[in-house]
Amino acid sequence: MKTKLFGWIDERTGAEAIIKSQLTEYQVPKNLNYMWNFGSLALLVLVLQILTGIFLAMYYKPSAALTYGGYTVAFDSVERIMRDVNFGWLIRYMHAVGASAFFVVVYMHVGRGLYYGSFKGPRELLWIIGVVILLIMQGAAFFGYLLPWGQMSFWGATVITNLFGALPVIGDFLQQVLRGGFAVSDPTLNRFFSLHYLFPLLLAAIVGGHVHALHVVHSNNPTGLDVHEGKGTIPFHPYYTVKDAFGVGVFLTIYCYIVFFNPQMGGYFIEVDN
Ligand code: HEM
Repeated sequence: MKTKLFGWIDERTGAEAIIKSQLTEYQVPKNLNYMWNFGSLALLVLVLQILTGIFLAMYYKPSAALTYGGYTVAFDSVERIMRDVNFGWLIRYMHAVGASAFFVVVYMHVGRGLYYGSFKGPRELLWIIGVVILLIMQGAAFFGYLLPWGQMSFWGATVITNLFGALPVIGDFLQQVLRGGFAVSDPTLNRFFSLHYLFPLLLAAIVGGHVHALHVVHSNNPTGLDVHEGKGTIPFHPYYTVKDAFGVGVFLTIYCYIVFFNPQMGGYFIEVDN
């Protein structure tokens, strides 16, 4: 059942044909097991991180200056999100727990690829794009960790930027560019916030390329032998929409349990000494 609006859009974009070939009627091996759920879960967590991040950025302030109360502006703004902003605690815990969940999900995704040989031809480019995604994810997480301006944030950023300082010839220069000075300080916080916003948007674009590359070569399967359309494949919808939805249900159950009942998992931020 096409609505009038969708018909209008379809005539001008060919949207229906794209949705059919890339989603509903896209052919997938029929023998995929639950290890193939982690790609769609990674997609879900990426969207959750971007959405919760946008709301956090409405209240967060990247400044190491001091408030009248003697706290830093950055740390204080996070405290305000936790205590004063409506449902700020929920958005922040969703984002912080989501960051860890993102890595768990993506490591499972990569582990599946290693175990079943999904990195082998013809999926080499898909794998290479995946490695780029992983590096950008690590950057995004590292930049985000500095933002609450806690002791762990400060020393984490100090140690990791020191590693760059150990590079021959360009080390000192690179370290100063990363820090925006000689030590981790206010300019570091500003540039990390800027990059922390940029990297996930880059990720979203590259993930688009990752899924496109997958749709050219199609999914591997637990046998490691390529299956051919019509024989051994089934349409993505309803078979894998339902299987992915089940995975999303299991994931959200665990995620919500942690967000609501144990969000800090034994770790929390103490402010940087002034
Ligand atoms: C934000 C992170 C990522 C997202 C959203 C994502 C998304 C997806 C999706 C939706 C699929 C299809 C479903 C599936 O096979 O699970 C897929 C397949 C695949 N991804 Fe990723 N991915 C991410 C990171 C990575 C990384 C880091 C690697 C490797 C270094 C990677 C390598 C692959 C490979 C090889 C396949 C095809 C697997 C097969 O058909 O057996 N991906 N990805």
